[in-house]
Amino acid sequence: MSVILAIETSCDDTCASVMKNGKILTNVISRQEIHKKYGGVVPEMASRSHQQIIYEIVSKALKGANIEPEEITAIAFTAGPGLLGSLLVGISFAKGLSLSLNKPLIEVDHLMAHHLSHFIKDQKPEFPFLNLLVSGGHTQIALFHDFYDYEILGNTEDDAAGEALDKAAKILGLPYPGGPEIDRIANNGDPIAYKFPMPYAKGYNYSFSGLKTSLLYFIRDQLKVNSNFIDENLPSICASFQNTVVNYLLEKYEKVALDQGIKEIGISGGVAANSLLRKRLQKLGEEKNWKVYIPDISYCMDNAAMVANAANIKLLSKEYSGLGSVAYSR
Ligand code: KG4
Ligand code: ZN
Repeated sequence: MSVILAIETSCDDTCASVMKNGKILTNVISRQEIHKKYGGVVPEMASRSHQQIIYEIVSKALKGANIEPEEITAIAFTAGPGLLGSLLVGISFAKGLSLSLNKPLIEVDHLMAHHLSHFIKDQKPEFPFLNLLVSGGHTQIALFHDFYDYEILGNTEDDAAGEALDKAAKILGLPYPGGPEIDRIANNGDPIAYKFPMPYAKGYNYSFSGLKTSLLYFIRDQLKVNSNFIDENLPSICASFQNTVVNYLLEKYEKVALDQGIKEIGISGGVAANSLLRKRLQKLGEEKNWKVYIPDISYCMDNAAMVANAANIKLLSKEYSGLGSVAYSR
């Protein structure tokens, strides 16, 4: 029998999860609201908020799973990449618990947790397996030969896809995080009303900063002609921008899959919650006869279930970490 308690505090979500014998029992998430009024994450506030609520969140995860602390097999935590102050709260809490309960630690890389989140479900990918991680901090294509045997084939050269959506939303006066806002508003818009240039990036890489700038200039020019342009056309602006991001993501991803001859295809990370991206990848999979993997929405955005899952894989080979584990930002 194995029980993993996992803690994730890499950015602005305080998360804890309990996994028993490979099954997620609880996945508790507290999304910090305080950053909304600043239009982005304020690192110092994020770490303070984690500190205030982490005990409550971990207790909730254990109580909900009906697990006593003594029953824990190992304590997992995200070591990085992320905001150092935020990571430190989770790591210190995990280390403190490990010392007081005399239970081993397992450190998990945040990106690996996102990449491997498909293995939470019963229907698991088979290797070789290709995954596109699209989040607020990363856009990365990885080819997995095994759980921890992988090649990074592509990365973003500048902004991540989620970051581009968040910045676009800010230009349009929408609250942070902008990705879900754009997704929601785009539902009522025309995706081909406005055209934005597809950015160029080398090989299997992505680049998103130019796309955001093209939206900025487009809005600036339109506002000169009509000061109500955003208010009058918001759904179609959102739909067109979102459509460009999704087209760009999938055009390149399709090429990688075809070049590599891989038929087990996944997307994960916060932007994988996007309704258009989910729909379009499903459709692409049907056309190409690929097996497509998309996590449940609750496992897309930051969560500790994916950390428990990645740790569970390490637990099988007893890959424990010591008290010397340190947080890393990149
Ligand atoms: O994985 P995540 O929670 O955190 C990072 O590791 O970065 O991803 C957060 C990102 C944000 O940029 C947010 O705007 C985006 O995921 N996001 C979405 C949606 N839900 C979250 N983007 C587009 N559509 C969504 N429905
Ligand atoms: Zn993340």
